[in-house]
Amino acid sequence: MKNLMIYNPVKIHFGAGEIENAGRLAKTLGKKAVIVTGKNSTKKTGLLDRTIKLLEKEGVKSVVYAGITPNPKNTEVEEASALAVKEGCDFVIGLGGGSAMDAAKGVAVVAGSGGKLWDYIGLPGKKPKDIGKSLPIMLIPTLSATGSEGNPAAVFSNPVLNQKAAIYNPDKIFPAISIVDPDLTLSVPPKQTAEGIIDVIMHVLEEYLTGETDCDMQDRFTEGIILTCMEEGRRVMKNPGDKHARAQIALSSTVALQGLPNSGRAGAWVVHPLEHAVTAYFDNIAHGAGIAAILPSYLKYLGEVKPDKVHQLADRLFDAPKDVKGELKIAFCIENFRKFITDIGLSDNFKDLNIGMENMEKFADKVIEVGGLPWKLDRPRLVQIFKGAF
Ligand code: NZQ
Ligand code: ZN
Repeated sequence: MKNLMIYNPVKIHFGAGEIENAGRLAKTLGKKAVIVTGKNSTKKTGLLDRTIKLLEKEGVKSVVYAGITPNPKNTEVEEASALAVKEGCDFVIGLGGGSAMDAAKGVAVVAGSGGKLWDYIGLPGKKPKDIGKSLPIMLIPTLSATGSEGNPAAVFSNPVLNQKAAIYNPDKIFPAISIVDPDLTLSVPPKQTAEGIIDVIMHVLEEYLTGETDCDMQDRFTEGIILTCMEEGRRVMKNPGDKHARAQIALSSTVALQGLPNSGRAGAWVVHPLEHAVTAYFDNIAHGAGIAAILPSYLKYLGEVKPDKVHQLADRLFDAPKDVKGELKIAFCIENFRKFITDIGLSDNFKDLNIGMENMEKFADKVIEVGGLPWKLDRPRLVQIFKGAF
């Protein structure tokens, strides 16, 4: 295990009904908020109006930018930032799924420091511009998935460049406060709920699979999060109104990327950059849907280069029978993941997502263009994993 440093300054208010504290908590961050949200869901559920009223009750003014689309675009962030500057907003509230929350982080940067969002994105051979000032951020997730509410990362799409890339900056884009009220996720439809669950699982699985192998406590923590997501995920698919399941999934989502489960591993992220290459071209595919399609093929590759960790998963998640060994154990683990993915209503391959084989080479090139080669992979292996997902 590597030495580690954990820094997480987010004040997280978790639990059913916590949304009622939105005004009181917002008041500690500023006088006028720009509320950054999606086009439909927060209007439909009444949450947007409710939040505005909760702010008003505490004397906090607000303006709304309700134009964020899934896989948020640089132009949307820039429009919301211009609104924030014009209206004299002194802090940002991200209200919605990961897309709205990440967009809020982008607004904090662009409204605070000026320029274009892509100036702050680092790419191979392109140093990002330093973020000078960023506005304080409050996040209110309505979907359990990204963990954006507890981390200093934000992912953006640039449709002109066909790039999906991230800002990661613990000094500038950690939210100051996040309100995680699991009841706000009750309205999430089954498909998005499932996509969120597989995303949470992948957030702890990435470094578990590629990082240091002697992180026993972190391994147990990770397996606990995955088992919780699988058990409560199956439950919530049967009964979307199950508040206990919704709360357990929401807490798993927030904790997954908060620091501890991945600490000391120094592992690499592989499925995420591969998936970001997919959504760079296919904006209609949700992040979680892309992950679900790639994961089985990636596990097959890992079974060849790092079988022990896949064997451990087979034992600890799926209780592999004693006589199932070697390659059979890898296959057993992959089959169980496929079963979970399809049980919760997702596709375990590209074909079912209508992504054709002709895209695999260009996906590989996009991975390399945006982030370089992840982990021990070379281009032929990237193509192998993409093709295996077909
Ligand atoms: O857009 P609206 O109208 O709000 O509807 C959304 C959207 O259609 C809907 N939704 C959200 N909450 C709802 C709801 N519908 C009904 N009831 C509710 N309570 O769900 C749809 C998907 O929303 P989105 O925010 O796009 O989903 P998600 O939370 O999965 O976020 C995905 C984005 O986050 C990035 C992804 O790449 C993607 O761009 N990620 C961010 C990370 C981070 N900041 O740490 C890490 C992740 O790995 C990920 O890359
Ligand atoms: Zn993710």
